Amino acid sequence: MAIRLSDRMAHVEFPPIAEAIGWVAEHKSTRELLNLCQAVPSYPPAPGLQDEVARLAHLPGTSGYTDIFGVPELRQAFAGQVSAQYAAKVAAENAAITTGCNQAFAAAIMAVAQPGDNIIMPAPFYFNHHMWLSMLGIEIKDISAFGPEGAWPDVEAARAKIDGRTRAIMLCSPNNPSGAIYPPQVLLGFFELARERGIALIIDETYKDFRPGHAPAHELLQRDDWPDTLIQLFSFSKIYALAGYRLGAMVAGPAVLHEVAKVLDTMTICPPQISQRAVIYAIAELDQWKEEKRQLMADRLAALRSAFEAPELQFELISSGAYFAYVKHPFRGVKAKDVAKRMAQKHDVLCLPGSMFGPGQEDYLRFAFANVEKEKMAMLVERLVNSQ
Ligand SMILES: Cc1ncc(COP(=O)(O)O)c(C=O)c1O
Repeated sequence: MAIRLSDRMAHVEFPPIAEAIGWVAEHKSTRELLNLCQAVPSYPPAPGLQDEVARLAHLPGTSGYTDIFGVPELRQAFAGQVSAQYAAKVAAENAAITTGCNQAFAAAIMAVAQPGDNIIMPAPFYFNHHMWLSMLGIEIKDISAFGPEGAWPDVEAARAKIDGRTRAIMLCSPNNPSGAIYPPQVLLGFFELARERGIALIIDETYKDFRPGHAPAHELLQRDDWPDTLIQLFSFSKIYALAGYRLGAMVAGPAVLHEVAKVLDTMTICPPQISQRAVIYAIAELDQWKEEKRQLMADRLAALRSAFEAPELQFELISSGAYFAYVKHPFRGVKAKDVAKRMAQKHDVLCLPGSMFGPGQEDYLRFAFANVEKEKMAMLVERLVNSQ
C-alpha cells in the first residue's frame, strides 16, 4: 500500500520557480533565454568575501554549531547596521540571525499564530509566505496590494478585515512581486492599526538595500514602543549575493524572540556558521561593493522603464522598483500561466505568471528584472512586442 500523505500538504501549491524552470527544461531556441524568473543576483559575491569563506573553512571552529540566534559578533554587527540604516538604536538582543529570511518568516508566524487564526496579507503576495501559512492551517485574509493612492495597500481595507482570530498584518516592502517601495507614512499607518488591535505588524524587508537613497525605510524603529508590535525580517541573500549561503535575520521584541528561539532550535539548531562569519566580513568591509550593486540595479530599473515606453508595446508596467516589475499583459481572458508559458517557450522570455502570487492576478506577469543586464532591456521589450 502506498504511503498516505497529508491532506493539508495536498492543498499547498507546488514550488512555482521549479515549475517555471520546467517550462524551459528542453529549451531548444538558438536565442539566449532572458531569465526574469527568480530573484537571484546575476553576479557572484565580492571577491574579498569569497576569499574570506575559503579562509574560514580552514579554521577548526567554523564547522560547529553556534547559539540559536547566531554568533554574538554577528548579532552585534547586524544590530549596528540596522541602527545606522534606520536612525534608531536596535540592541543585539533584538536581533536574531536565521537560516534565510524564509525561515525568519516561518518562525515569526509560528510565534504569533496557530491553526485557525488568520493573517492579513496584501495580494499579490510572495508565494512562499502563502505556502507556509497554508501548511500551518492559518487563513489568509487578503486585501489588494494596490490601494487608492499607489502601489501599496490601504490601511482601512486591512482594518475592515481584522477579527478576533487575526494575529498579524504581513507586509513586504520593497515588495515582491511588485517592486513597490511603501512610503514611511503608509508603514506607520499599518503600525498604528496593529498596535491598536494588539496584533503584530510583520514587514519583510529583504530588498531594503535596493531602495534609492539612504533615508530610513521607515521610522518605526525610532519609537520606544516598537517591540510590542513590530517584527522585521531581512535577508543577506540578495544584497551580498549569498542566496545559497542561507542567511537572514529578524528584529523583534523579547517576547516574540522567546517563542522564535523554540522554532529555530527545532528547525535548524543554528544558522550556518560559515555564512554567519562571512556576513560579519561583509558588514565590515563591503559598503562600497553594496553601493555599486545598488547603483547597478538602479540602472537596470531605469533601462527597463525607458524600454517600456515603446509606443507599440501593449504590455503595461503597473509597478516597478526594487528588483521587480509587475506587468499587465495584453491577452485579456487568457490565463497568466498560459501567457507566461508561451512567453518562455515561443519568445525566450522566462517570467512568472501573476496567478502564482495570489487571487485575481490572471492579467499580470512578474519580471525579476534585476537578473538582466541593462543592455538587454530593449531586447526584452522587442520580444514582448513580437508576442502581441
Ligand atoms: C520577499 C522575500 N522574502 C524572502 C525571500 C527569501 O530570502 P532568503 O533567501 O533569505 O530565505 C525572498 C526570495 O526571493 C523574497 O523575495
